[in-house]
Order: sequence, then C-alpha cells, then structure tokens
Amino acid sequence: MAERPYIVGNWKMNGTRAMLAQARAIDRAAQNMMKVEVALAPPFTLIHAVHREVEQIGVGAQDCHPGPDGANTGDVSAAMVADAGAKFVILGHSERRRDHGESNALVAQKAVAALQAGMRLILCVGETEETRDAGKAEAFVTRQLKASLPETLESPADSLTVAYEPVWAIGTGRTPTVEEIGAMHCAIRALLVDLYGAEQAAQVRILYGGSVNAENARDLLAADEVGGALVGGASLTAENFLGIVVAAADTVDS
Ligand code: PGA
Repeated sequence: MAERPYIVGNWKMNGTRAMLAQARAIDRAAQNMMKVEVALAPPFTLIHAVHREVEQIGVGAQDCHPGPDGANTGDVSAAMVADAGAKFVILGHSERRRDHGESNALVAQKAVAALQAGMRLILCVGETEETRDAGKAEAFVTRQLKASLPETLESPADSLTVAYEPVWAIGTGRTPTVEEIGAMHCAIRALLVDLYGAEQAAQVRILYGGSVNAENARDLLAADEVGGALVGGASLTAENFLGIVVAAADTVDS
C-alpha cells in the first residue's frame, strides 16, 4: 500500500444538487482522516458546486474534450472543467471507450489537453472477460496503457495516477483475486519504470477499480502495488464511501 492511499469516487451520470449533502459529509469526515487522500469526480454539472462546498477533498472531472474551444456542441474542454474547479480528470474509462468509441490515441490527446490546463490525470485501463480468460490480460492492459499515455510526460510523479479497472468487474459485484490484482499492478509498475525510470514511477499511484465496497476494500487495498481505489456505485452515499476511506486509513496504520 502506498504511503498515502488515494480513494476517488466516480459519480458517473448520477447526482443533482440534492447530492451536495453527500459531498459535504464526505469532506467533513476526510478532514479527520488526513492520511488518506480523498477525491470526488461528480458529473460536469456539479463540479463547480462541489468545489465550492468542500474544503479538504479533491474535485475532478470524468472526461474532457481534447480541443481548446470551438464548434463542438455538447462537449466540454479541459480549460472549462479546470475553471469550474476540477484539479484532475478521469480519462479512458471503459464506459467512455465502449459508449463513445474512444481510442487509445484519443485518450492520449485528452491527456495532453488536461495537462495543459494544469490538471492531474487518472488514466483508466482494463481488460474484458474474454481477454482475461484467454490469458492475455497483462499484455493487453500494459499495451493499452502505453498507447493511452501522452508521448511525453514531464513529471509523472506529480501528474499521473493509473486506475486498473477490469471491464468485467465494473458494477458487477465481481472482482479479480487479490493475487490477480497484485500481478496486474506489478506489470503496470514495471511498464512505468520502463517509461519514466524507477524514481518517478515509484511515486505514481496505481488504483484498483471495479466493485470496490466497504466490505472488500481492506483485502483489495492490501494487494501488491495498490495505491488506492476508484469507486463507482459505492461512492454515491457518504456512508458507503466513507466505509472504504476508513478501510484505507486502517491499512496505513497496520
Ligand atoms: P463500480 O465502478 O465501483 O461501480 O464497479 C467503478 C468505476 O467504474 O470506476
């Protein structure tokens, strides 16, 4: 477990202003658990409101457009989400790859735009069930990560977090074993060492995501090279999400 675990809630397409009370409750509790870095990625429409409501936790976006501005109806640029208060952006989530046909190359372009806007990246990768069953998960994920990263990244230690999210584990209640997660995270770490050198790579946190909840968090967070969690469904209420944050805090103590 990394020195300061990073627990990020991805609200996906959930939340109206009524949900700001959850963000406030998460923020208050996080103020008493400083050994865990806590963040939320609400939908675009709530970024500014969450940013204004919270003091301690990080606020980020779930996507951004690769371009600076222009005739792109319905799209939101990196500078816009940064202006709304986002300090990081989740890129390459499998739901965007699946529902919007996002390629690795597009994810890399978005990453460049996000960095230019001064935000950190949470770059998501993960294999389908067929790929895992075929024994090709690690080869697929490392290739996907390499192709989704910007060509140059000045200070990965400050700007990059990787999230390993097996597609078949997202929202399904199923997770890989602790050994499988550890093996994948070690493969990702080895790629990062190759790309950025040992010193920078050691400081990039690799999150696990996919059906993390308060009950399984302790085990999943104990897997090799896991530096935190990217949480979907269980981040929608303060009660569920804080159960995971408490589990992360416990791993720092032990
Ligand atoms: P889940 O989603 O926790 O609901 O499985 C995780 C994610 O997609 O980031």
